[in-house]
Amino acid sequence: MSEAWWKRSVVYQIYPRSFCDSNGDGIGDLAGITARLDHLQQLGVDVVWLSPVYKSPNDDNGYDISDYRDIMDEFGTMADFDVMLAAMHERGLKLMMDLVVNHTSDEHAWFQQARRSRDNPYHDYYIWREPKDGREPNNWEAAFSGSAWEWNEATGEYYLHMFSRKQPDLNWENPKVRAEVFEMMQFWLAKGVDGFRMDVINMISKPYRADGSLPDAPVVRPGFLQPGFGLVTNGPRLLEFLREMKQQVLSHHDGITVGEAPLATITQGVEITHEDSGALNMLFQFEHMELDSVAGHPNGKWALKALDLRDLKATMSRWQDALHGRGWNSLYLGNHDQPRPVSRFGDDERWRVESAKMLGTWLHMMQGTPYVYQGEELGMTNMPFASVDDLRDIESINVYQVAVGERGEDPAQVFAAILAKGRDNARTPVQWDATPNAGFSSGRPWIAVNPNCSDVNAAQALADPDSVFHHYRRLIELRRRHPVIVHGRHALLLPDDPQVYAYTRTLGGQTLLVVCNFGDQSPSFSWPAPLRGSRASLLIANLAVAEPAVAADFTLRPYEARVYLCQGEAS
Ligand code: NOJ
Repeated sequence: MSEAWWKRSVVYQIYPRSFCDSNGDGIGDLAGITARLDHLQQLGVDVVWLSPVYKSPNDDNGYDISDYRDIMDEFGTMADFDVMLAAMHERGLKLMMDLVVNHTSDEHAWFQQARRSRDNPYHDYYIWREPKDGREPNNWEAAFSGSAWEWNEATGEYYLHMFSRKQPDLNWENPKVRAEVFEMMQFWLAKGVDGFRMDVINMISKPYRADGSLPDAPVVRPGFLQPGFGLVTNGPRLLEFLREMKQQVLSHHDGITVGEAPLATITQGVEITHEDSGALNMLFQFEHMELDSVAGHPNGKWALKALDLRDLKATMSRWQDALHGRGWNSLYLGNHDQPRPVSRFGDDERWRVESAKMLGTWLHMMQGTPYVYQGEELGMTNMPFASVDDLRDIESINVYQVAVGERGEDPAQVFAAILAKGRDNARTPVQWDATPNAGFSSGRPWIAVNPNCSDVNAAQALADPDSVFHHYRRLIELRRRHPVIVHGRHALLLPDDPQVYAYTRTLGGQTLLVVCNFGDQSPSFSWPAPLRGSRASLLIANLAVAEPAVAADFTLRPYEARVYLCQGEAS
């Protein structure tokens, strides 16, 4: 097992628009990030993943890039970026940029050229198709609703966009596109950045048929457009493109890479992150994010279903076990696309602090590189949006219009799904203190601040040794001290228990035992037979536990989490 630095690291994700606003325009910015680096240093993270800061018309908050080598006006200048990067490096923090190269903005110079004429040198940078029977070339629905094809009058063709119509997909079959992307990556590496998070990277190879057409997706919602994502993820040339990127760019730097890979299977995960033959360090896989939606439902993530903890155990364990010693993975419960974990998997009212700590413990003791999304370390919760007018996210706004306006679904039910799963939940401003606008901005924030900011904020959390923040800090510290947390072999206990999630990690004669209560009942826990009578010390817990800890059965309190280090092997 090689000792790569990114295996020992913890990553903190910054969504710059909502992190900290330094100039009072209501939008977070780079100088705001620089001003708040103490917070990250106190938490003890190693790497920052910065969501896109490039020039963008903001149809999708920066995931629609119009210039890869310049900074978004609202976020500052390249000089601000250089100052921020130097400040991070001075503190020993590394910086991972967001690489969004499945698509550009339609305002990117390449697309502006490409759409002019069929013989423009940039035309082939994008994916164009003739109408089929006078209409869109196939039945795919874009991620942000509507057809995945948009008509372009000047060339008499449609272009493909898997997200909004302002995010045309790049044509990776064209070697010039790949060369442009690789050069752009070199540009940022030459500035000193330490790696890339790759946006929907497993969508770059499209499933062309021999005649160049793109097949219809299976019909799951008769009479409407169909989700096409199952067809465009993990395409035939994906691994080849990634290996080329590795050979041209990544292999020359000791950086960190994580590929966002919706619908990736474990086989693909092993292939892409394989220690010898893979191309990326780790993936963001989505299986555990899909367990609280009805499988196969045409409404996708919006078709809500209560999580069955046994499904989470089965999914996580399959990934933990399959990658051990072969590949690597990221560990995450939240990011800018997901609701807040404490609201989704814990209890964000009575047991907010306990359940936020439990979830952090559960995640950070697993095998992989943990990611902390801004505000997660404070136990920030979902947002009680009052109406559709308060939403800012293109995905939620469009899905509401289409589901209610076109498909005639019940508005209350659609809004309830948005409250539970909408991306704006994670995008409300970071709550720094109890001053107006939670200390995020002196101006009017671009999206409302969560009203619980007077209780839930960083100033309060730092001052309270029992806060979620200090618990996360201790979890991060433990990873640094105990190789078993980084490299131990995982084994699931109690696969059929619907409330207690327990697992072990084993390395060199030591076993880490992690026991988490995912509910508000008080179940009992019996020590696994091989560890009975072994010497055990309590490494961390979210509730006071009487010392000295001995290997004795115990009753768990609501949302309790305990981690023991035992001398001896459990498996
Ligand atoms: C995944 C990103 O995380 C999300 O925020 C974005 O909307 C899509 N990719 C499109 O870039």
